[in-house]
Amino acid sequence: MKSAMVFLLVVVSIICLVSDEAVAFPRPYESIFSFGDSLADTGNLALEGAQKFPSVKNLPYGETFFMHPSGRCSDGRLIIDFIAEAFGLPLLPPYLGIAATGYDVRKGVNFAVAGATALGPEFFNAMSIGSLLWTNDSLDVQLGWFKKMKSSLCTTKQECDCYFKKSLFIMGEIGGNDYNYPFFAGASIAQVQPLVPLVVSKIMGAAEILIEEGAVNLLVPGAIPFGCSAAYLSMFPSRNPSDYDPETGCLKSYNAFTDYHDQQLRQSLQALRLRYPHARIMFGDYGGASMRFYRAPALYGFNIGGAIEACCGSGGPPYNFNLSQWCGTPGSTLCGLPRTFASWDGVHLTEAAYGHIADGLIHGPFTSPPLLSPKP
Ligand SMILES: *[C@@H]1O[C@H](CO)[C@@H](O)[C@H](O)[C@H]1NC(C)=O
Ligand SMILES: *[C@@H]1O[C@H](CO)[C@@H](O)[C@H](O)[C@H]1NC(C)=O
Repeated sequence: MKSAMVFLLVVVSIICLVSDEAVAFPRPYESIFSFGDSLADTGNLALEGAQKFPSVKNLPYGETFFMHPSGRCSDGRLIIDFIAEAFGLPLLPPYLGIAATGYDVRKGVNFAVAGATALGPEFFNAMSIGSLLWTNDSLDVQLGWFKKMKSSLCTTKQECDCYFKKSLFIMGEIGGNDYNYPFFAGASIAQVQPLVPLVVSKIMGAAEILIEEGAVNLLVPGAIPFGCSAAYLSMFPSRNPSDYDPETGCLKSYNAFTDYHDQQLRQSLQALRLRYPHARIMFGDYGGASMRFYRAPALYGFNIGGAIEACCGSGGPPYNFNLSQWCGTPGSTLCGLPRTFASWDGVHLTEAAYGHIADGLIHGPFTSPPLLSPKP
């Protein structure tokens, strides 16, 4: 029995080795699978119709890089696009579009949907805010899509193990909307805080399912700082100057909230690493990577005030955000140079900002352990 196992292991490693050698210029990852929300969606919500967020289907969304709306909630590429480019992989197609395009799914697929939550829609229905949701395709639905298409990626367990060893799984960012919907509906920080452990344990459950399905390289991103978002800054203003961070102009309390989410996430990831020592479980510090440009906008090519003011929106400085006159709706205005702004529409960031975050993850210290060098 034991020798049969050893034999099997040897065979498996030979199979994996052979396909390694077949690649002339080995890349750290040969495919990417992504789950999450608008920070990662490359077109799923738009393909669903985006009835609650029709702006994403029109210019100026996409104007900088694609020159047309691509279904991304930005003027151009997202963090996930820069990661794919860094590994020489094609930009990830949205899952809901692959049938129509006949795309080679073995290089990766994106299951993220803008507006998606970690917790299921029933949770928000119970809070009487279910009608705010842009989509019902929460994390469980996205995992179901992945399981459904797994058979077109690999068949036997051995084949899947070899294949997934060279895949990067990105679990998020997800969870931000679980907080955004209640905050936008008027809930206080104290009321939203109890959701954090629920959201984090949902993300952990999803990560665990992926590992059980064969994922080995898993990147789990944290939140982007809500307190620096033009939407939060304009919707939750304070008369007390000490509520603002003097260095960045961001709201301290909402940044403390996203820090709290990140702390819980990091702790849970540590527990997950102990349970799955064979896996490479990485935390992606989106918050840390973005605080660099909120602290020193000019260093990243952003205008004074351009880190927190939305490029596209209405109301003018300092935030240029109005929830009922969103970017792309009549009366909204567009800045001349999106790359001099970090905030695109008040909630989502510009391609320039996403590029700086991706750079901090790929080449900088904001992924731990580092994103490059997957497990051999
Ligand atoms: C989510 O599902 C509910 C119940 O089936 C439905 O009423 C609602 O329109 C759906 N929301 C979206 C955005 O599809
Ligand atoms: C936001 O836009 C709406 C619709 O144009 C307008 O009625 C409202 O006054 C604006 N709010 C602010 C604070 O400017």
